[in-house]
Amino acid sequence: MLPQEIIRRKRDGQKLSAQEIAAFVAGVTSGNVSDGQVGAFAMAVFFNGMSRDEAVALTLSMRDSGDVLDWSDLPGPVTDKHSTGGVGDNVSLMLAPIVAACGAYVPMISGRGLGHTGGTLDKMDAIPGYISQPDVGRFRKTVLETGCAIIGQTADLAPADRRLYAIRDVTGTVESVPLITASILSKKLAAGLQSLVLDVKVGNGAFMEKSRDATALANSLVEVANGAGLKASALVTGMNEPLASAAGNAVEVRNAVDFLTGRFRDKRLEDVTLALAAEMLQSTGLVSSQQDGLRRAAETLAGGRAAAIFARMVVALGGPADFVEKPEKYLPKAAVEFTVKATENGFVTGIATRDIGLAVVGLGGGRTRPDDRIDHAVGITRLLPIGAEVRSGDALALVHARTDAEAAAAAAAVLSAYTIGASKPAADKTVIRRVLARG
Ligand code: URA
Repeated sequence: MLPQEIIRRKRDGQKLSAQEIAAFVAGVTSGNVSDGQVGAFAMAVFFNGMSRDEAVALTLSMRDSGDVLDWSDLPGPVTDKHSTGGVGDNVSLMLAPIVAACGAYVPMISGRGLGHTGGTLDKMDAIPGYISQPDVGRFRKTVLETGCAIIGQTADLAPADRRLYAIRDVTGTVESVPLITASILSKKLAAGLQSLVLDVKVGNGAFMEKSRDATALANSLVEVANGAGLKASALVTGMNEPLASAAGNAVEVRNAVDFLTGRFRDKRLEDVTLALAAEMLQSTGLVSSQQDGLRRAAETLAGGRAAAIFARMVVALGGPADFVEKPEKYLPKAAVEFTVKATENGFVTGIATRDIGLAVVGLGGGRTRPDDRIDHAVGITRLLPIGAEVRSGDALALVHARTDAEAAAAAAAVLSAYTIGASKPAADKTVIRRVLARG
């Protein structure tokens, strides 16, 4: 099967067979298909879409392009969550230990920041000594002994996705529902999970700004996962404001540790984390209802068991033994702190969330090119939520920067991202919709 013939058929809107898709993906992995052909294929899919059967075939072929992990020796269910990405979204850091403390195993293979959104892997790299790319032996041992491990993708998992994603990134073909679906699910299937919960973000800080698009992606992810033999469900959750009151790397780790130990919890973050925990517990059969799951997750959190598991995971992956007790001793701190002050009286009625994420990137906390080094110390904390009442001169947020000039630029961006109005707005929903497999 010539790659150009497969591309032509997709270009002309025809349906590809599973064999054609497998042959093309094999060429992507081996290098027999050129970058130009991969880009042309991605563009043909971008314009003509894929049926569910084609998306399942693409997902399975990409899964099989590398190693597939096997956790059948673990004495409990194996589950994970994937978020489509947002700002101040440090849910994974709490969710993995909460679910592990309830009896499931969570081998969480996470990614780096993408565009204006933060990445779990970058956050974990803010912890000194933490090995975020361990060998498979250490990864397995950590999951077995502590119940969870948050690490980065290894070179051997879904290598076809790595090449396809890199080419999509530079050919304007990222925003395609079947390509996003196959990209996310091929990696999760290669991780050997028994169930997966998807957190599909919607709003002005998400890749999907419109509810219709987020629901289409959630449906596609759930249906294709089920078609590929992976039990999955999705929550569509709001991203019209940062989820945590912190955005950045070290500052989000600190926020997560405070959440786990009960020192401080952002309300919206707590709602989303517990809802996802309940969904994961239900998907594994460890609880029989959403209500039961919420109760178990909340009790586990309150009893300190999730904090203890997080602490053990950090140690197992090379981090400090007293990290959870003394995060301030270990997390890097930025040289400059700058308070962003409100310039009028009223209520926070809106936040341009993407601009907050871009302000963190501008501070050096994210990347503008794939090989950029990031500064884990910079970020923004004490971000006021929508609905907060402010008076002129009150703090809206605190910027952590390397220099006065970078702090001033970020502060100006944060100030213009906030809209202050005369009346208190109605609270936004955090969990908007639950998406289960049809039929
Ligand atoms: N995350 C992925 O892993 N792949 C995509 O295509 C988009 C987001």
